[in-house]
Amino acid sequence: MIPILRNQAAVEVKQLSKVYGSGATAFTALRDVDMRVEPGEFIMLEGPSGSGKTTLLSILGCVLSPTAGEVRLFGENVSASKDSQLPQLRLSYIGFVFQGHNLVASLSARENVMLVLQLRGWSVRAARQEAEYLLDQVGLPGKADSKPRDLSGGQRQRVAIARALAGGPPLILADEPTAALDAENGLKVTEILRQLAREQGRTVVVVTHDNRIFHLADRILHIEDGRMREAKP
Ligand SMILES: Nc1ncnc2c1ncn2[C@@H]1O[C@H](COP(=O)(O)OP(=O)(O)OP(=O)(O)O)[C@@H](O)[C@H]1O
Ligand SMILES: [Mg+2]
Repeated sequence: MIPILRNQAAVEVKQLSKVYGSGATAFTALRDVDMRVEPGEFIMLEGPSGSGKTTLLSILGCVLSPTAGEVRLFGENVSASKDSQLPQLRLSYIGFVFQGHNLVASLSARENVMLVLQLRGWSVRAARQEAEYLLDQVGLPGKADSKPRDLSGGQRQRVAIARALAGGPPLILADEPTAALDAENGLKVTEILRQLAREQGRTVVVVTHDNRIFHLADRILHIEDGRMREAKP
């Protein structure tokens, strides 16, 4: 269990920079980014292709280390952690929803969700029960036995959300979760993410280009050329 302190930001980023490569081929993807997200906020991060959105999300998700600056998740300075500590930090804090859903093709919806729980040390029996509960929560009752290929794009993305919720991480990060969906399914999937923030106090950061879903955000952050500015209160 992660101690979540009162008045503690869910995400606090200070003077964050990321440079890919070095010497003549060095490329600055993020420069002097500051951001703060409160627990339970539902944030969208938007900006042109190549502006640094995935880079920023990967750093928040403890997948990538920053070049400079500080990242705190629920008060813990994760940017000071060694690479070897990142997997444990991810397990403690983060649920990831990827653009391409990234489900394991040979496993059923239930097994895809169970896998994450078993990695977290759950028994098969408990993982099975929890996976079914989570699939129900994202609106997929009766689909637990289906393989990804037998599900629609929207249904696959719901499985991906159920998987991100497994184990109860306080921070959900989603990279273009609606990119492959039609307008109706895009809205439904986004509404599920928003409900998680509203009803369960999870903090959700969604990277998106999708102006059909902007109205659902508590706040929209805009990033351009690796710099951050806030677009809407
Ligand atoms: N591993 C890498 N090595 C070198 N440059 C990289 C690497 N990953 C990303 N970049 C560069 O950093 C910049 C930001 O990339 P990033 O993937 O964060 O953009 P993005 O905003 O997510 O774009 P998109 O909307 O197209 O997904 C781009 O110019 C990209 O080419
Ligand atoms: Mg991207």
